[in-house]
Amino acid sequence: MSDTQLPQVVLGVGGGIAAYKVCELLRRLTESDHRVRVVPTADALRFVGEPTWAALSGQPVVTDVWDGVHEVPHVRIGQSADLVLVAPATANILAKAAAGLADDLLTNTLLTARCPVIFAPAMHTEMWEHPATQNNVATLRSRGALVLDPAVGRLTGVDTGRGRLPEPESLLEVARSVLRRGATSTDLAGRRVVISAGGTREAIDPVRFIGNHSSGRQGYALARTAAARGAEVTLVAANVSLPEPAGVRIIPVVSTEELSEVMATERVGADAVVMAAAVADFRPVSDAESKIKKTEGPPTPIALAENPDILLELVRTRAQRAPEQIIVGFAAETDNVVANGQAKLERKGCDLLVVNQVGQGRAFGTKDNQASILSPDRPVVEFSHGPKENLADQVWDLVQERLAESDEQDMGLDSSR
Ligand code: CTP
Repeated sequence: MSDTQLPQVVLGVGGGIAAYKVCELLRRLTESDHRVRVVPTADALRFVGEPTWAALSGQPVVTDVWDGVHEVPHVRIGQSADLVLVAPATANILAKAAAGLADDLLTNTLLTARCPVIFAPAMHTEMWEHPATQNNVATLRSRGALVLDPAVGRLTGVDTGRGRLPEPESLLEVARSVLRRGATSTDLAGRRVVISAGGTREAIDPVRFIGNHSSGRQGYALARTAAARGAEVTLVAANVSLPEPAGVRIIPVVSTEELSEVMATERVGADAVVMAAAVADFRPVSDAESKIKKTEGPPTPIALAENPDILLELVRTRAQRAPEQIIVGFAAETDNVVANGQAKLERKGCDLLVVNQVGQGRAFGTKDNQASILSPDRPVVEFSHGPKENLADQVWDLVQERLAESDEQDMGLDSSR
């Protein structure tokens, strides 16, 4: 691909300390075949200087609308972009963008861009939570911009809380996801989704457990893509060691009982729930308080008790707790994949069941997946083979289709009243 065919990203940099992390994001963007034009604010240059941005992007860097006026940069840069990504988006930038101010090159660019726009806010928790900032975020979201929720963790100095810029690799994933979908990128805006990922562990003693091979990759791909499509995402992660997706609220759990409790709480008010976690069906009846010693001789068979079937329970209680909610299950099968899947779909009663074949190196821990998506009332959708992100997008397309249908039915009911 020639350089001019590469996606053109405008990287707007705000005046926050997290600007230093954006150097790494810039490097990752250029190394993964994007042309990047950096547009820092004057305050951003106090944190990271112009030569750094110019050297890493290989493009001239201007801040002021009065630089290089003959090229009309205040219009051209925004017009020619495929994506504008602002990181860190300070409270000040969010306020200016929401108000439509245009007093420097970045704010002019935001007004002229017709491509998708992502804001990755970073600031102190109090500034993020302030009603003024929250109003500005709501305004920008209502206009179709993707405003990611900041991550939780260490802030400048000794403070911790919500307000951190997500890590560069997860911002790169969001940028890629949005570029892949172009104009329809924020079709899940206003939706709340809950996803379980990973594999539960059932303690035998303080150092041993019964577990499974699930890496959490498919669940994390679902969370990443939903957040990149504008959804408010809660990710319930059972024993996963993957980078945190940007803009996603993560609740870590260990055992099936914990997962069950968290899902029961989090499903309230959610538009969709996806059970991508591999759940242990049984747990040891007694969880020994001290380590079982070899000198005690070979262990007697471990007595097991049945765990709750979380998916079944979510479906069973849907009518009374969340009538319109779309519920998606996953099934990993080693043989008779579609037949076993159909039987499982009937047994669980969910709206969609994503069935894939596992074993012999397939699915667990890999970046790609293959699956059939079954539903009780529509033809099977085949996902022949591809990245887990693409399968995730396919699942969200089907969820979104159902949510849109149920919105239409509600509107029909309203107008007939
Ligand atoms: N699941 C669940 N709770 C369980 C077991 C499974 O919520 N105790 C969910 C999984 O998250 C998945 C779906 O049910 O979305 C199917 O999981 P799977 O392990 O394939 O189904 P099982 O019912 O455990 O059937 P089997 O292991 O016999 O194939």
